[in-house]
Amino acid sequence: MHRYGQPTSVIYNSIGVIKTPYVGKAPYQPVETGSGEFYLEIDEPYVEGLKGLDSFSYIYVLYFIDRVTGPARMTVTPPWSDGRAVGLFASRSPERPNPIGLSIVRLKKIIGNRVYTSGLDVFDNTPLLDIKPYIKDLDSKPDADYGWVEDADENQHLALHIQGIPHEH
Ligand SMILES: C[S@@+](CC[C@H](N)C(=O)[O-])C[C@H]1O[C@@H](n2cnc3c(N)ncnc32)[C@H](O)[C@@H]1O
Repeated sequence: MHRYGQPTSVIYNSIGVIKTPYVGKAPYQPVETGSGEFYLEIDEPYVEGLKGLDSFSYIYVLYFIDRVTGPARMTVTPPWSDGRAVGLFASRSPERPNPIGLSIVRLKKIIGNRVYTSGLDVFDNTPLLDIKPYIKDLDSKPDADYGWVEDADENQHLALHIQGIPHEH
């Protein structure tokens, strides 16, 4: 049981790995049209759990951002924020107390233990923690906004970064 000020330790085991073309450098958010092959390679004990997943066009991919080097600071300046400092939990920084990454990607096909997706924003061999279906209406929030990004200069430029859309600077 969690008590205030006393962290609860949690041990998760990865269920596979994420295969991408990226070594040491990856987009800040998924680029749907990212070139190269992207797939989730599921470990054998979990393959049965993929049944029915291919009926969905989008999935949530959760993973352990295993190669973070920096400490988790409670105030961060996202690389695309034009110098603006915000709280860690108002950001998508990979340097977090629990470096869990979340990406929503298009599910292309499933062959055996491989779940092929559109572009992901992680390094090759990132440990996979979970997959969940993205369900229309349940998961989409038409009244969602840009939060603090709306107040920042060059709002449209930032939105491109957030969405992982390639563009000229
Ligand atoms: C900003 S994070 C966003 C991750 C996810 N979309 C999210 O919002 O939780 C993406 C960045 O994390 C870094 N990254 C990706 N995979 C990583 C890994 N396995 N270990 C350490 N850093 C990683 C890359 O620099 C990439 O640009």
